[in-house]
Amino acid sequence: MNRSDLISNTMTDNEKSKSERIDDIIEGVMKIAHGDIDHQFEITDNNDKIDALSMGMNMLMDDIKEGHLQKVENERITKLNEELIIAKEKAFESERLKNQFLQNISHEIRTPLNAIIGFSELLPTYFDDKERLIEFTEIINNSSSDLLQIINDILDIAKIESGQVSINWEIVDIKTMLNNIEVFFSQYQKQLNKSHIEFTMNFPCDKITQPIQFDSGKLKQILTNLLSNAFKFTHSGKIEVGCKGLSDTHFTMYVSDTGIGISKELQAQIFDRFIQAEDNYTQKQKGTGLGLSIVKGLIELLGGNIWLESELNKGSTFTFSIPYKFYKPF
Ligand SMILES: Nc1ncnc2c1ncn2[C@@H]1O[C@H](COP(=O)(O)OP(=O)(O)OP(=O)(O)O)[C@@H](O)[C@H]1O
Ligand SMILES: [Mg+2]
Repeated sequence: MNRSDLISNTMTDNEKSKSERIDDIIEGVMKIAHGDIDHQFEITDNNDKIDALSMGMNMLMDDIKEGHLQKVENERITKLNEELIIAKEKAFESERLKNQFLQNISHEIRTPLNAIIGFSELLPTYFDDKERLIEFTEIINNSSSDLLQIINDILDIAKIESGQVSINWEIVDIKTMLNNIEVFFSQYQKQLNKSHIEFTMNFPCDKITQPIQFDSGKLKQILTNLLSNAFKFTHSGKIEVGCKGLSDTHFTMYVSDTGIGISKELQAQIFDRFIQAEDNYTQKQKGTGLGLSIVKGLIELLGGNIWLESELNKGSTFTFSIPYKFYKPF
């Protein structure tokens, strides 16, 4: 039996040798080095230099912990401040958009309303002038449609955002549906005096040999919004609507134009409510900036996706996919 065995054999269970206590301290330091900043060194009843060292280490650890907590707290406060600044900027931006929207919408509502009130007041005065009567009633009629469109858009966006719109799966004759849209927009094109723009529809309906089901009302609303934008923002060239792909579950359609295009910065937010390329409404085209957010809301509700490729002064292509089902009678 050597000397150290002799020493350890003479120790009681709860008594540790100095060397074991130093080993404990070394182990503690290793734990701290690995991140255990809560580690406390053991103080015995011996009241010796090792206890004094442990006490000093504990005090040091308290200081380190306090410093660490302070650092964590400072980091938390810095992060919170950054989040607050972002939230404040967002709130300012949303306030600015809301004000812009109110300014736009009151203009958009007042214009047709003033026309309706003004021209209906004039009607009795021109009762014997048939030509004028026709002209005035046409203005009243168009203004009423504009007003109805704005009110419908506001109601639609409110309904979509509050989750009150449901999907109506119906058997659709897609060929007739698209023909109707083509006829409507060819007419619309004439009204806008934009007959010089080439308008084509490219949907291979013959590829669909079985009856299919989808929400045709919503697809019509999506295409109408995208096409009216295309006609509004295109002054020459071509507008095309068509099908890019047809899988067993989805079809992918596109509306492309050779219009004014959308800048890269604006593309990221173009589907947000009230966003329009030109803030100053006296310079911009008619509209409230709700159309694309309705389109995106409807497509997402249907379980589809929409994306945009555009280049300023070259044109834009809006592509979207929406699900459909093959109709199974039994
Ligand atoms: N095809 C397009 N070409 C160029 N810019 C477009 C096109 N489509 C949309 N934009 C830009 O995106 C903005 C938002 O379009 P959105 O349809 O949401 O609103 P709007 O057409 O201005 O008004 P609303 O559709 O409510 O009458 C437009 O104001 C326009 O700046
Ligand atoms: Mg629009």
